[in-house]
Amino acid sequence: MSVVGWTHIGELCTADPAAGEGPLGILRDAAVVAVDGRVAWVGPSSEFPDVDVAHDMAGAAMLPGFVDAHMHPVFAGDRAVEFDARMTGTPYSAGGIRTTVAATRAASDEVLATNAARLAAEALRQGTTTLEAKSGYGLTVHDEARSLVAARTVTDETTFLGAHVVPAEFAECPDDYVDLVCGEMLDACAPHARWADVFIERGAFDVDQARRILEAAETKGLGLRVHANQLTQGDGVQLAVEMGAASVDHCTHLSDDDIEALAGSRTVATLVPGAEFSTRSTYAPARRLWDAGVTVAIASDCNPGSSYTTSMPLMVALAVREMGLSPAEAVWAATAGGGMSLRRDDIGVIAPGRRADLVSLDAPSHVHLAYRPGVPLVSGVWRAADRLV
Ligand code: NIG
Ligand code: FE
Repeated sequence: MSVVGWTHIGELCTADPAAGEGPLGILRDAAVVAVDGRVAWVGPSSEFPDVDVAHDMAGAAMLPGFVDAHMHPVFAGDRAVEFDARMTGTPYSAGGIRTTVAATRAASDEVLATNAARLAAEALRQGTTTLEAKSGYGLTVHDEARSLVAARTVTDETTFLGAHVVPAEFAECPDDYVDLVCGEMLDACAPHARWADVFIERGAFDVDQARRILEAAETKGLGLRVHANQLTQGDGVQLAVEMGAASVDHCTHLSDDDIEALAGSRTVATLVPGAEFSTRSTYAPARRLWDAGVTVAIASDCNPGSSYTTSMPLMVALAVREMGLSPAEAVWAATAGGGMSLRRDDIGVIAPGRRADLVSLDAPSHVHLAYRPGVPLVSGVWRAADRLV
């Protein structure tokens, strides 16, 4: 049995509102004990018991490891030229995805796995202890399946996104591509995936195509996630809610009916402010969603086109500065919210029974994540009580 403890935590953000103050369930001068990688006890430093390995946090803030529930880390090449053009006025469109598809198809399995590992390591250094990884830059049976094999080398939370865009070779017959996604591609990919996702958007897939793909994925036992309402306001959010998707992501352009549907559902709205930041777009209405009672997560959307960043601290800063969440709400969305988006009850919160995924800051409070944007404040990262950073 291994017993690890952390004491003199100046501000412990449990992300369990029932455990302490505010949405982050904050405890002051607190301590945590983990037994065999799981949290066994949370209490005041004055009652810290004997442990095998003790970490004296000397007043630092600690929070759950970030749960980044939306990443696209399996690809080759980059799109700096496209970003440069965008910053001088060329608008973002779904079509840019095809540039990365060409580079990804040409890359070896080793290059794809190495790139995913590099991004996962980058995310870890910034406090991400769980990440989701999508395919979606292969768009052939073989390239989607090997993308998921590469994704599995960095996480168990893998998502089949064969329905990212219609590849150029199917441009004249998009429904034939949908048939391929629902048939042979899904058969090859489902063994490597926990989730399926569809990009519902003008230039990508419409709701009827998405429904077919999601239904096929569900019969294969995959959980459902959806990219919707990113560039335009369509029916994607409504479809996600109707089909009981675990998460609907982006949610940038929402009607009142969309918000009401989300509020009455178990579907988490996973917001990705990095995409709005890097495409110079309007931000998702996080404040309205939160106030309506919708479960909100924030994620990096790390991908080479719309959001080439792995930084959850940056997402927290953007959610506060640009989307109107309080620092406590934003950190909750980046931890507990991400865990709910992945339908996980073992991560995202510091409470007895949960995996001991913890982050310490070189700061006395979680507020500094938004107050000191761009500063590398993460000073320690533990997953299942093992120190990784
Ligand atoms: O989540 N929206 C679709 N997919 C990605 C963008 C992919 C790309 O531009 O390469 C996103 O923003
Ligand atoms: Fe995405």
